[in-house]
Amino acid sequence: MKTRFICNSCDYEQAKWLGRCPSCGQYNTFEEVAVKKPDNRGVKGSTLIEAAAKPVGAQLLQDVSVSGEIGDRLVTGISELDRVLGGGIVGGSLILLGGDPGIGKSTLLLQICKNAAMAGDSSILYISGEEGAAQIKMRAERLAVKAKNCYLLAETDLYAIRDAANSIKPRLLLIDSIQTMRHTDLTSLPGSVSQVRECAAFFTHLAKQHNMAVILVGHVTKEGSLAGPRVLEHMVDTVLYFEGESSGAYRLIRAAKNRFGSTNEVGVFEMTEHGLSPIDDPSAYMLAGRPEGVAGSVVTCSMEGSRSLLAEVQALVSATSFGTPRRTATGVDYNRMVMLMAVLEKRAGYKLQNFDAYVNIAGGLKITEPAADAGMIAALASCYKDKPLAPGVMVIGEVGLAGEMRAVNQPERRVIEASRHGFTACVLPQANKTKLRVPEGFKVYGAAHIGELLGVLL
Ligand code: TYD
Ligand code: MG
Repeated sequence: MKTRFICNSCDYEQAKWLGRCPSCGQYNTFEEVAVKKPDNRGVKGSTLIEAAAKPVGAQLLQDVSVSGEIGDRLVTGISELDRVLGGGIVGGSLILLGGDPGIGKSTLLLQICKNAAMAGDSSILYISGEEGAAQIKMRAERLAVKAKNCYLLAETDLYAIRDAANSIKPRLLLIDSIQTMRHTDLTSLPGSVSQVRECAAFFTHLAKQHNMAVILVGHVTKEGSLAGPRVLEHMVDTVLYFEGESSGAYRLIRAAKNRFGSTNEVGVFEMTEHGLSPIDDPSAYMLAGRPEGVAGSVVTCSMEGSRSLLAEVQALVSATSFGTPRRTATGVDYNRMVMLMAVLEKRAGYKLQNFDAYVNIAGGLKITEPAADAGMIAALASCYKDKPLAPGVMVIGEVGLAGEMRAVNQPERRVIEASRHGFTACVLPQANKTKLRVPEGFKVYGAAHIGELLGVLL
């Protein structure tokens, strides 16, 4: 295969690598890409009109059949993973599993082997470019993987992997990891953007050819993107990310993209000595060890896909000892936190300019939903005033720049989740209060402005 070098920033193309692009003047922007011969099938020797008259390979939408192997999903048997995938792995699909090193990606792959291969006669091919077969076997023994139809191959060369896949014809191909795979036609190093992109394209082709599902493991770099500036995300059908600290015991898997199910669905796991074990009641897990009667701790409820999850927002506000006050956000968006502090200052009269502020979501959850705004405001105000909230109160609501409390979606499900976990009251936006059906004995307070919210709470 011939290769060319293309500048990442201006698309200037040329035959050899250069340190500086002569067109745009940027440094280190050239990437090697493989060029294939132009494919003229279909229009060769015929006029354009003739070609247009023959819809090559196109068929009517109503005639397309989804029965057979694509239609039925391969159920992994790991409840939380199946939930995130939308009911199992779709045949012929490509899944990208991303996460920090040491978070449990290889462990999850082996557990998929254990459950999926035991469930039926479908064979699985596990390719490891990082560990030897003996190392994987040792781990498999620890995880009690006894599947008979699981093949192992420690290999990084794409053509060798293709040959193995052609002879075994597995239902599921596991690649651990895409950054170690090597396309021998390219001279660049494994893990570089061009290698990662070409290898993924190769596996896409292989997947469609044999109608097998492929899971690609991808390491996340320090900047938080999958190596190869997220080039893979648009090439695959499903993107799953591992969240959580590799030092902690909990792990979250979130679908950032899913062509065959809903996104933002989370699966919650605990890392034990027997691998990852699903947690059935994540709200209880997130709230475990919560200090009661402490200022700065507020419980809120976030919708993660189809699931409502209770989470504790913690805030610490303390007088700053330097010129510029510090603000730190863990589990929530930093800019959102700074904005809410400004709203608190301007619309509720809290003088926070000489205070350091820290906000944290306990349990390692990352909340992107604005419904946690009111929880954050309440936690900051509670810590500032050193007044704890009454026990058993949950707070939800989006906060706007004018300090108004805006409605959130699915308030009823959040209230039910709170009630199920022993909460007895909830403060939510006034707009949500009307028409809300609440469990018996559960009190609901509506607030139209953060002034009212803080008035009710503190
Ligand atoms: P691993 O799955 O190899 O991570 P990755 O492939 O994402 O880099 O290992 C994750 C960590 O989990 C590792 O530090 C060891 C730990 N672990 C357990 O705690 N219990 C187990 O049963 C296994 C297999 C691993
Ligand atoms: Mg690994």
